Amino acid sequence: MVATSTDELEAATVVSGYDRKSEVKAFDESKVGVQGLVENGVKKVPRMFYSRSTHLSDGLTSESNSKFSIPTIDLTGIHGDPIMRDDVVGKLRYACEKWGFFQVINHGIPTHVLDEMIKGTVMFHEQDAKVRKEYYTRDMSRKVVYLSNFSLFQDPSADWRDSLGFFWAPGPPKDEDLPQVCRDIVKEYSTKVMSLASTLFELVSEALGLDRFHFKEMGCDEGLLQLCHYYPPCPEPELTMGTSPHTDSSFMTILLQDQKGGLQILHENQWIDVPPIHGALVVNIGDLLQLVTNDKFISVQHRVLANHAGPRTSIASFFRYGDQSPEALSKVFGPIKELLSEENPPVYRETSFRDYLKHQYSKSIGASSLPFFKL
Ligand code: OGA
Ligand code: NI
Repeated sequence: MVATSTDELEAATVVSGYDRKSEVKAFDESKVGVQGLVENGVKKVPRMFYSRSTHLSDGLTSESNSKFSIPTIDLTGIHGDPIMRDDVVGKLRYACEKWGFFQVINHGIPTHVLDEMIKGTVMFHEQDAKVRKEYYTRDMSRKVVYLSNFSLFQDPSADWRDSLGFFWAPGPPKDEDLPQVCRDIVKEYSTKVMSLASTLFELVSEALGLDRFHFKEMGCDEGLLQLCHYYPPCPEPELTMGTSPHTDSSFMTILLQDQKGGLQILHENQWIDVPPIHGALVVNIGDLLQLVTNDKFISVQHRVLANHAGPRTSIASFFRYGDQSPEALSKVFGPIKELLSEENPPVYRETSFRDYLKHQYSKSIGASSLPFFKL
C-alpha cells in the first residue's frame, strides 16, 4: 500500500514518542475549540497546531506594500444603468480571470448589518463554554454545527480557528436550532447575502458571454453553507496558521471580514494582503466555477495568518449545491458547452455533486479537488 502523507506523519510522530492522534482526539472531545484553550490560559501553541507552511517556512515572500492590490469593484448603478452595468461586467471579468478575488462596495447590504453580523459571531464564540459545547458536532446532516477545523482528522496540522456553521439552503435551519445570541442577525444577513449572490451570479454569467440567468438555471445559488469563523489571539503565531493555504470548493464565496487583517492570497508567487475595507465584502471564485468555466475563471489559494492580537472574525458564505438535498447531490456538472471549442477542449470530466462532495470530505484543507477531476 502506498503511504499517504498522513500515514507518514503518524509513523514519524510515533517514533519520536509524540502521539498526535491522542492529542487531536482529546482536543476534539473538549468540544470548546481553540477558544477553550485560550480561556484556560494557554501560553504555548500545542504541538498538534504546528504548521509546516507558516509565513516563515514556505519560502515565499509576503508583501504588505506590494505593487499589487486586489481589484475593488463599485456595484453602483448595475440595476438601472446598462452602461454602468457593462462597465462592472468588464471589471468583474478581468478580476475573475487574473485574480480570482475582488472586493465589492455599494453592494446593497447596509454596513450596520455587516457590523452586527460580526458582533453576533463574536458573541457566539465568547459565550459560556457550557453553551458552546452543546452545539459542537461533526455531524454534517445537522443544519447548525460548531467545531474547530472542518478537516481536523485529515489535516497534518490544525489551524488556530473555530467555526460556527449554517447549512441555509435548501431549507433553512429551524429557528429554535439557531443559537440565541445571534439568531436574528444571522437570518437577516443570510437572506441579504443570498440576494447579493444572485446578482453576482448574473454578472458572472454576463462576463462569460452567457445568458444572464445561466448560473441561476444551473442552480449555483441554491446551496449556501455559511461559516462564522473566530480566530482567538495566538501566543506563538509564528508556529501555526489561522487558516492553512487552500482553495474554496464552492462556485463562489462571499467573505465578510472584520478590520484586523491577516487574509492573504497567492498572486504571481507572492502572498498579497486582502486589506479590510469597512463596509466592503470580499468575493472569490471557487473550484466549482473554475471547473465549469474550463479554467477561464480561477480559484486562487489563500490563507489567514495567526496573530498575537485578536480575536479576528470573518463570515464565509460558500455558494454551491445543497449538501443535504438528494436533488442537489444527483446534479451532474462539467465544463459549460457554450464555452468550449476546438481550440478550447474540455479540461475536466463531468461529475455528480455527490462524488464531488465525497472527494471533498475525504481530503485535507490544502489539497485542491481540481486535479482529481482533470481529464
Ligand atoms: C474560508 C476562508 C478566510 C477568512 O473560510 O474558506 O478562506 O478570512 N476564510 O476567514
Ligand atoms: Ni477560503
